[in-house]
Parts: sequence; C-alpha cells; structure tokens
Amino acid sequence: MSRVSEYLSREEKSIGKTIGIRFYPIVIDRAEGSNVYDVDGREYIDFSSQWAVTSLGHNNPEIVDAVKKQIEKLVFSSHTSFPNAVCIELAEKLIEVSPGSFEKKAWFGLSGSDANEFIYKIMPIYSGRRRLLGFQGSYHGQTMGALSLSGHKALTRFIGFPNTVKAPYPYCYRCPFKQSYPECGLLCIDFLENNVLENAPAEDLAAVIVEPIQSDGGVIVPPPEFIPRLHKICRDRGISLVVDEVKVGFGRSGKFFAVEHSNIAPDVLTMAKPMASGFPLSAVVGRAEIMDAALAAHLFTSSAHPVSCAASLATINIILRDKIPEKAARTGEYILKRLNELYEEHPLIGDVRGKGMIVGVELVKDRESREPASFETACLVYRAYELGLLITYVGTYSNVVEITPPLTISIEETDKALDIFEKALDDVEKDRVDKEKVKKFAGW
Ligand SMILES: Cc1ncc(COP(=O)(O)O)c(C=O)c1O
Repeated sequence: MSRVSEYLSREEKSIGKTIGIRFYPIVIDRAEGSNVYDVDGREYIDFSSQWAVTSLGHNNPEIVDAVKKQIEKLVFSSHTSFPNAVCIELAEKLIEVSPGSFEKKAWFGLSGSDANEFIYKIMPIYSGRRRLLGFQGSYHGQTMGALSLSGHKALTRFIGFPNTVKAPYPYCYRCPFKQSYPECGLLCIDFLENNVLENAPAEDLAAVIVEPIQSDGGVIVPPPEFIPRLHKICRDRGISLVVDEVKVGFGRSGKFFAVEHSNIAPDVLTMAKPMASGFPLSAVVGRAEIMDAALAAHLFTSSAHPVSCAASLATINIILRDKIPEKAARTGEYILKRLNELYEEHPLIGDVRGKGMIVGVELVKDRESREPASFETACLVYRAYELGLLITYVGTYSNVVEITPPLTISIEETDKALDIFEKALDDVEKDRVDKEKVKKFAGW
C-alpha cells in the first residue's frame, strides 16, 4: 500500500466529509515554488496554487523569512483588545494600495467567508436598509451571511437568509437571455436596473456584492462595461458597491485588484486567499464611515494574527517590487494563446477565457448544443493528476477547468504543465482514462 493510500484510509476514519471537495487521491507532504510533493515523494506541478492562495509560489523564502522574524518577536496578541503593531502597518498598506481617494479603514479576519460575513452583517446597520443583492453563480463563502449572498449551487442548496436577492451575472457563453455580446447591449444589467430593482427597491437595498471575475461560478470574465454600469446604478441610488477580491486580488488578474480593470473605486473591497501567501488572513477595506458603523460587531479572537499580517506585508512588498501583476498579465496571455491553439484541435473544448492568470477551459459534449461535458471534465482533471499536474474544476455545471498557477511560475514550467494538460485532454477524447477510478471523486 502506498503512503498516500494509507493516509487516505486513515483520513476516511478520522476526518468528516463536510470539509472536502476531492478531485483525485493525494496527500501532500512538502512543497517548493510551483511544485508539490506527495507523501510518496511524487512531484506535481501545482497549477491550482491551492485554490489561488500560494500565488507567490510555495514556501516563498522571503515570506518564510518574514514569518520567522515575526514568530521570534510576537506569535500572538488578540487584536480585539490588544492591538499589535504589524496589523496596523498592514492596514495602512492596504489602504494605500486599494482604489479610491476617499478616507478608508480596514477590518481583519481569517477567511474569505468571514470577510463577506462582515458585508452581510454591517451593510444593513450602516445604511439602515435591509436587503442585499448578489449574483447568480457567485461564491462568497460558507458562513450563513456569506452563503446567503451567494448564488453558486454549492451554497444555494442551503436556504440562507431571505433578505438577499440575486441578479443574473453576464455569463455570455451561456447567456440566460439567449443574447450575444455586444449586440445585447448588456441586457442583464438592464434587467437588474429595470426588473430586479423593481422587486428589491433601491431605497431598501443596503449593498450590491459582486465578483469582478466570477471564479467558482465558472471563471466568467464579464464584458468591460459591466462593473462600471453596475457602479453607476449603485452610485445614482446611494447603494454601496462591494467587490469581492478574495480569489482574484493581489495581482492574479494582471492588476493589483481586478476591479482596477474597470477604473472605478468600489465603496468596499473584501480580500483573503493570496493576501498572506498561505497564512490565514482576510480583510475588508472600505469607506471609513462604513468600517466605523458598529462598535464591536464582527470580531474574532485570532483576527489580525501578527504572523499572518507579517506574511501579508511581505507578500505586498514582493508584489509591488517585482511587478507581479504585469508578469501575471504576460504569462496569462501566453497561457490563453496556447489554450486557444488547443481549442482548434480539440472539440471537447467549448470555450477558453480568462484574465491574467485566472483561466477557465469550459468543456462541452458538442460545440453546437454546448451541452456541458461534466464527467469528461472530472476525467481530464484526474488524468492530469496521474500525469503530474494539479488542476481543479468549477462552474454551475462542473465543467470548467480552473487554471490558477503561481504568478511566479516560469514559462518553461508553464509549457511543461500545458503539455501535460494537452496529453490529458487527448487521453480523455480517445477514451483512455479509467472511468471507475474517476467516479469515486464526485468533486462538486
Ligand atoms: C470569490 C470568493 N469569495 C469568498 C470565498 C470564500 O473564501 P474562504 O474559503 O477563504 O472562506 C471564495 C472561496 O473560494 C471565493 O472564491
């Protein structure tokens, strides 16, 4: 029995299923740069960055160094009552790098979910309005408020709170209005303005929360006018606009924050995943009056953990110093180019899309009907794993391969990973994947 199998059978007995989404059998032992190694010593290229967290590469030596220095100085103080210096320095830095010249303040938590929970709790208090609006397909987190704002099928299976409304997101490949962009003139945003707001009147709408690129919903990049038009609708009606940068912030999209592609400054930004290069940390940065709206209303004992904050400061310094967003834009272009070449040869690929280094490959049974090829997607991801490449899939129909490599990956490693991707795709199309093995991994 391999050590991976042995550990997985022990996991089966010791850890409940509520915690996992699994795509293949793996147990990770160590990692470095763009590579991870399982407990049997097998090497993989990590084209997932562990759900877009390890954006500066695994065990980045500069981050490790910053963390070691912080641990020697102060492992913990509870910011709730005993503020630490490093978290104040980080708040100032986040205010500096986030868009908007208005007065801003920060809040800190531990995960993307608790940052979006802040929105659910605080925006109604701040505005005196009860409703919140999110988008179909969106993923804002697993806690009750965050899931109530979400429209992803993994979260809509819970009833959630009834004071939330959902509008269609511009998923142009599968337009809910059966239109084509740009001829549609963005009918979805007209629908939001004329129909959704009719049923959820602006006078009672505290905030709209949106992902600038819908990630778990299927790596959907909205048309460029979408966010600016949404911003205008909100501004004209005194509704706060919240942008969820949990997955795509910190350089991945080709800008520090993905919303910067739209040249607008939202009232509030939520962030987490890559912000501390793997140490648990989340933040909300927004207009000072929103962040001060309620005293002691959303706090956790370990929020603003000094070690995570030190990792985050080091992360931001590297992103700015090494011009990581620009690098992500270039490598992302290269990945899209190579995947578009694969599109020409592989009919299983229905659509290739992305911005910077968040890229989606949507698989279909037939390009005409666009019937989702969900099981084939699970097979592709599994086969890639067998060949030494870690990728995952997302989307309403579980048929979009998500590619979120470390932003620091070299072109040589990128090519190696894409060669494996191509071979895995070929094996799926030629029916060379063991389907029985894949069936055990239901994914999501
Ligand atoms: C856009 C977005 N927001 C929020 C979350 C929730 O973050 P976490 O899993 O850290 O709670 C996720 C997680 O995938 C996400 O992609």
